Amino acid sequence: MMKDKILLESLGQMKRTHNCSQLTAKDKGKEVALMGWVQRRRDHGGLIFVDLRDREGITQVVFNPEYNKAVHDKAHAIRNEFVLAVRGNVRPRPEGMTNSKLKTGEIEVMASELRILNLSRTTPFVLEDDTQVSDNIALRYRYLDMRRPALQRNLAIRHQAAAAIRSYLNGLGFLDIETPFLTKSTPEGARDYLVPSRVNPGQFYALPQSPQIFKQLLMLAGFDRYYQIVRCFRDEDLRADRQPEFTQIDLEMSFVTENDVIKVTEGMMASIFKKALGTKIKRPFKRLTHEEATGRFGLDKPDLRFGLELKDVSDIVGASEFEAFADVVKSGGLAKAVNAKGCIGFSRKEIDELTEFVAIYKAKGLAWIKVRPDAWQSPIAKFFTDSQKQALKVRLDMEPGDLVFSIADQPGVVNEALGRLRSRLAKKLNLIDQGRYDFVWVTEFPLVEYDEDEKRHVAVHHPFTAPIEELMGLLTHDPIAVRSRSYDLVLNGIEIGGGSIRNHQRAVQEKVFEALDIDRDTYEKKFGFLLEALDFGAPPHGGIAIGFDRVVMLLAKQSSIRDVIAFPKTQKAACLLTGAPCEASVAQLEELSLKLRTLK
Ligand code: AMO
Ligand code: AMP
Repeated sequence: MMKDKILLESLGQMKRTHNCSQLTAKDKGKEVALMGWVQRRRDHGGLIFVDLRDREGITQVVFNPEYNKAVHDKAHAIRNEFVLAVRGNVRPRPEGMTNSKLKTGEIEVMASELRILNLSRTTPFVLEDDTQVSDNIALRYRYLDMRRPALQRNLAIRHQAAAAIRSYLNGLGFLDIETPFLTKSTPEGARDYLVPSRVNPGQFYALPQSPQIFKQLLMLAGFDRYYQIVRCFRDEDLRADRQPEFTQIDLEMSFVTENDVIKVTEGMMASIFKKALGTKIKRPFKRLTHEEATGRFGLDKPDLRFGLELKDVSDIVGASEFEAFADVVKSGGLAKAVNAKGCIGFSRKEIDELTEFVAIYKAKGLAWIKVRPDAWQSPIAKFFTDSQKQALKVRLDMEPGDLVFSIADQPGVVNEALGRLRSRLAKKLNLIDQGRYDFVWVTEFPLVEYDEDEKRHVAVHHPFTAPIEELMGLLTHDPIAVRSRSYDLVLNGIEIGGGSIRNHQRAVQEKVFEALDIDRDTYEKKFGFLLEALDFGAPPHGGIAIGFDRVVMLLAKQSSIRDVIAFPKTQKAACLLTGAPCEASVAQLEELSLKLRTLK
């Protein structure tokens, strides 16, 4: 209906002279041509004001009937998100009308020519940064969502970061080499996305969970230093920092040890932060072994922006009358505590909430002690002797006003639950300096762990990670005790990358497969091609992959990687914009020799 009345015009020979953030008082009197979208139109009877927006910013355009009547008449039709080309004259805004919040707030453009290049329906939500819109609508109309300045900025930061990475690694002689997407399963701990092969009925490719094996083969091929900013695919439960397809900065180097990879990565992170934010980050980064990290902070991705360290109190409470704790310690468990300084004011309700919170991580309870000047207030205080109390006081630096939390259980549960509680307390108590970037390397992870569900040993990183040489002897009889030549990079409590030195000798790789309870037939079938390759002069090599989306999320100070991906998927791995995934036609299935049977 609107279309009948408004004559759409073409761009013709009109050329854009400036973008919408460029003009200042210095441009006074200039003839300019701007092109963009209508952010807002205000019709003041006489004058019509239009905020014209492009990816750089906004410029106010004025339609004045006394300046140009025909153009002013035409401007009545303008609505939000119409696409316009405007020619006009730059003039300073009248006294008192300047807008200091806008880069172009000192000027406006008096329109002498208007071309309405396209119309827009009323958008399903207001295209502003603080707009209230459900995720479903925003993702369904992602192209509109992305017109918001915040997303424009986030994607620009992403671009800057990628440019910095390429320039840094190119400078060090790394080669960017592509690896296949239609490939064989690469074990990174998630499920594979499978792609049926039409020409090989009944057979499937797997989309790569990472280019791990290919980058190792590139080292075998002699390329020495490889990198790729590459898409990876993992069918796993999604969270704020996980997408089914995501991007890695993947690199691999030959003739190196841990420190070489770490040094290159630190340099790369520094150049990313410099280019994208202008921020100088401190190097070298801190380092903690996995044992130290979980010991002091509970988690293998510790947030070092605040204290609240965990203390092991097993020796003290293990000897106490408190059976719940003493029994756990006697049966090989652990008791740890954290002192929430000055938190004596927490209510019963707040403590109950935290108890429910740690229960998510399988803690059976949350013992607490409020340190009053005269005595301890606590459901468990009565179980401790004076000397045990004194020992706890010293270990935990307990002073009047403090609130101590403690959990006893198997080490995995204690560390996870108290580690999460530590972060939760820091948020609750506002202990986190949001301007800080705290990098830390966590090294020497265990090589394998026991998977209760699968009832077998699984790799903590991936099966190609090398054990620490001196511990190799333990592989056959005590694999859990073997630590690996691995390193994760953690930033502000988020795992942003991980890598390792690899097994470059066939015999060692076979031993590791065996420690993972994979029998010879299976590993020959799955990875025979890699083992064979190792026989042809594999150089020592190692590398790392950085989660690019997570890095950009942190650079842009966002809380979800969805905010730094142009077309992200929902929690159910759907693309609401295109409607993927969707059913395949019978004809397509037949071509693939597939027949659907719905399994219960
Ligand atoms: P890893 O599996 O640790 O290592 O992955 C490296 C980094 O990728 C990021 N990441 C993800 N980001 C978003 N969504 C996901 N679903 C997702 N999964 C992982 C994390 C993680 O630290 N081939 C090895 C690396 C190597 O050994 O060189 C690998 O892929 O930030
Ligand atoms: P109970 O004697 O079972 O009533 O427990 C006394 C207090 O100790 C309660 O605050 C429980 O939450 C806590 N508690 C019991 N078992 C554990 C445990 N394994 N770890 C931490 N706190 C516990």
